[in-house]
Amino acid sequence: MAFNIEETLSKLSVIQKIKLLSGLGWWHTEPVEEHGIPSMRMSDGPNGVRGTRFFNGVPSSCFPSSTGLGASFDIDLAYDVGVALGEECRAKGCHILLGPTVNTQRSPLGGRSFESFAEDPTLNGLIAAAYINGVQSKGVSATIKHFVANDQEFERFSISSDVSERALREIYLKPFQLALKHSDPWALMSSYNRVNGVHVSENTWLLDDILRKEWGFKGLIMSDWIGVYSTAESIKAGVDLEMPGPTVMRGKAVERSLAAQKLFISDIDDRARKVLELLQKAYASGIPFNAPEEGVDTPELRKLLRKAAADSIVLLKNEKNLLPLTSESKVRSIAVIGPNAKYAFSSGGGSARLLESYTVTPLHGIEAGAKEFGLDVKFALGATTHKLNPLLDPYITLRDGSGKGALLEFWNESPADGFATTQTNLTDGLKPCVWSCTTKVSNCVLLDGVDESKVEKDCFLRYSTVFTPEESGTYEFSLTLAGSGNLFFENKLIIDLSTAPTPGDYFMGLGTAEVKVQVPGLKAGQGYLLEVRANNHDYVKQVPIIPNWGGLRLGAVKVVEPEDALKEAIDLAKSTDVAILVVGLNHDWESEGYDRPDLELPGLTNRLVSGVLKANPRTIVVNQSGSAVTFPWINEAPTVLQAFYGGNELGNGIADVLFGKVNPSAKLSLTFPKRLEDVPSYPSYGSKGQEHGKILYNEGVFVGYRGYQVKNLTPMFPFGFGLSYSTFEYSALKCSEISAEGKFTVSFTIKNTSNVDGREVAQIYISDDEASLPRPQRELKGFKKVALKAGESRSVDVGLDREALGFFDERRGEWIAEKGTFSVLVGASSEDVKLKESVDLKNSLTWRGL
Ligand code: BGC
Repeated sequence: MAFNIEETLSKLSVIQKIKLLSGLGWWHTEPVEEHGIPSMRMSDGPNGVRGTRFFNGVPSSCFPSSTGLGASFDIDLAYDVGVALGEECRAKGCHILLGPTVNTQRSPLGGRSFESFAEDPTLNGLIAAAYINGVQSKGVSATIKHFVANDQEFERFSISSDVSERALREIYLKPFQLALKHSDPWALMSSYNRVNGVHVSENTWLLDDILRKEWGFKGLIMSDWIGVYSTAESIKAGVDLEMPGPTVMRGKAVERSLAAQKLFISDIDDRARKVLELLQKAYASGIPFNAPEEGVDTPELRKLLRKAAADSIVLLKNEKNLLPLTSESKVRSIAVIGPNAKYAFSSGGGSARLLESYTVTPLHGIEAGAKEFGLDVKFALGATTHKLNPLLDPYITLRDGSGKGALLEFWNESPADGFATTQTNLTDGLKPCVWSCTTKVSNCVLLDGVDESKVEKDCFLRYSTVFTPEESGTYEFSLTLAGSGNLFFENKLIIDLSTAPTPGDYFMGLGTAEVKVQVPGLKAGQGYLLEVRANNHDYVKQVPIIPNWGGLRLGAVKVVEPEDALKEAIDLAKSTDVAILVVGLNHDWESEGYDRPDLELPGLTNRLVSGVLKANPRTIVVNQSGSAVTFPWINEAPTVLQAFYGGNELGNGIADVLFGKVNPSAKLSLTFPKRLEDVPSYPSYGSKGQEHGKILYNEGVFVGYRGYQVKNLTPMFPFGFGLSYSTFEYSALKCSEISAEGKFTVSFTIKNTSNVDGREVAQIYISDDEASLPRPQRELKGFKKVALKAGESRSVDVGLDREALGFFDERRGEWIAEKGTFSVLVGASSEDVKLKESVDLKNSLTWRGL
């Protein structure tokens, strides 16, 4: 239903207009029923559409983490992923998707590094634009986030990113700027942090002067969740929508600001107009309001998920051409080893996580791939490397035997004396609960999904389930709470988190630390009763910034003697033709809410890898992480792959590359350093690098590969690096003259010199040979992914403009491309330059805006 925005605005009372400026609960905008204004729905983002629930949501597709999609360097794939996300939004009645994330990775340690596409602004911005165009082709609004310089989780609501204007413009604002140049996102999310002392959500310079006036952004600006810290200031600066609801900084506070003339009705009109403009688009999309949520699962979607998983895998080493494993490889038996083979780590942690519609573990993917060649696959864990104990999901059933999962019951008052603390068998004699539900998961993030008409925020809860282990032995159980309470095993208290629990990382840094206890003598196939009895009083009192029902996370893992597990894996590797190690991190190591302390692989991973490499020279290492880690054994490893968090189909994606169904074509979207000290932002990063509430961005524009190159540091693997089963030859570089407006074309030829079809990502770097200030040695300004049949050769044209030549001149307050000579470098990575040409810019060019 199209409506006239100005007419509608003129009919609304001031109170109704103010209502439009805040959220209704976690995932909706406030409606104004009297005028027929409905509530728009939104969902995270960025690698899937979780829908309106963290807890017990409708299952969704999970695409590879953004660093993986970035590594594909594939604009068409990013568009197709965007389209699929748009379709899933439609199925979930969702008008606004909270993605993509484009915060430049200043350090691989960032808890959310996996969420952005690349450390390079051009790759980050261009992939984001394609993703946005895909999402919005389905009538759904994308929300580019988090604007801006939100590159670490440490003290994320308050930290000030102290950065020069030049670095801000060239490195941190640039991905947003490019995305806005090549797409038209209908919404943007401001970030939590401060920039040079001023919170972004009240930063007029960033939101109004740069974003709206200089760049001409026409869309809606929403806050990050609980990221509005002022009333008049945030409205003046241009934050249209405070999220989530109920409002804390708006509502009555806006009325007070109007009375004090800190705000005027025109300010309210400006903000409300943006909400109505987005509503206009929501109407045009035809997506119903308050619709039931559904998932999407079609053969085409599965195909796309599988393609995305395989196309985001980077082949780092293939020294002995062990890969691909084909019928000619003379391989009969395969050992699959490692904790990341057994679990499906589909995405990083925090708001990017969702309940996947299905998953394929690397072990299952490899087993299925191997079956086609009649190969024998055996598995050994080798080491346990989890940060928090693995979840119980596959092993829990309801106590009444009616199916998989657990029962969750809620009371507003204690259902029995000593509910959370005694050892009494509480099966009987409890007061009836006010509300209950079943769940299939043992990680219950109760931010939503609870019937708020029945359950008060300050409540008691019981989670009960039957745990049936697959193997006999001693198990280590663990409990983590956003609240306080206890874990009972067969009605015996085994973990006490009821008094003075230690704060920890759980619940995006707002919950307790995990407490573990071992229980011996469990028998395979036998059911054991587990109960968590908790209340969230202390949680609600102490962490009032997030209004919800708290949360609980139950884990369990079979205790293995580390040396035995290592030996078992090494023995297995010795006995098979090939060993495939699948190691890495997971969503507990890389998550919103906290940063990583170092670049190490966890636990005994490195010992496991070294041991298996010694045992079997035909060992393939597959590393799974959303961002860079270090490989101390790299010189001994002949065959290495980097798989990011690959989404639903991660196991099949890995198998497709290993067995040659897919010829790898991805290239690293971020540098893999040799050691943490080499990372350009070191040491001024994260908790160790903060200086009383600020982080100094001392490295300026020398971020990512720009920082390694200026110091002549060789990383373990450079940005843009990745091998293929094909080989390519570059030739015939030609550059057209630069036009008066700064436009020019770079042309060259690529030939597939192998006998297998493949795809190559050609990268165009520019270097300013005569700059008046220090500039990076070379900067990525364009790229093209080219599919070439065996032996095929193709000429490639890439159009560039003044943006490829310019830098931000702080004195002039504008961009400048200085006249003189520039080198055009065409390469297979940031370090592997294949062709070089010079171009001359006859007259300097200056500009503002996109
Ligand atoms: C994150 C956002 C996310 C929002 C809603 C915040 O904690 O920073 O990226 O969209 O929560 O889940």
